[in-house]
Amino acid sequence: MIPASPPFDPRSLRDAFGCFATGVTIVTGTGPDGNRVGLTANSFTSVSLDPPLLLFCPARTASALPALQASGRFAINVLDIDGQAVADRFARRGIDRFAEADWLDWAGLPVLASAKAAFACTLHADHDGGDHRILVGRVEAFALAPERESLLYLHGRYRRVHVGG
Ligand SMILES: Cc1cc2nc3c(=O)[nH]c(=O)nc-3n(C[C@H](O)[C@H](O)[C@H](O)COP(=O)(O)O)c2cc1C
Repeated sequence: MIPASPPFDPRSLRDAFGCFATGVTIVTGTGPDGNRVGLTANSFTSVSLDPPLLLFCPARTASALPALQASGRFAINVLDIDGQAVADRFARRGIDRFAEADWLDWAGLPVLASAKAAFACTLHADHDGGDHRILVGRVEAFALAPERESLLYLHGRYRRVHVGG
């Protein structure tokens, strides 16, 4: 292991970050104008049980960010193994991201009907995170579909869980 020194090559740093396996989420919200917004995000992390807190990190440039900040609410939709198409859709521009999936309405928050889990949050804190923001959400409601398999993301690719050996 030979350490790299600043200034870091962004590609190499991204590759190093990307060796940490995550799940995949769609973060959704509704702006003050009533329009639904959302993006694919793997920066989701649980934070606290009491009070119930979680976080995710949207890019400062993310088109959904102003609506999430203004409304003070967002939903985290954890994707199941069949969620790859939705993940790709919410990372693309110039399309209706909410088309081609079934959405529930949780008191104004769009929740993916096929999600492995969903968390409806109020915005608890909004921290500086360099070229991202760190949005901490307080969980106001959640649901879990235990029978569904989670979608994973590792080394820039979608993966599935291997059980046993
Ligand atoms: C698997 C995956 C994970 C991602 N995770 C994040 C994330 O945590 N934060 C973020 O800001 N963008 C993330 N992105 C990128 C956004 O989904 C993408 O930039 C999207 O276009 C949102 O930006 P926009 O609404 O400004 O177009 C991820 C994309 C993929 C495919």
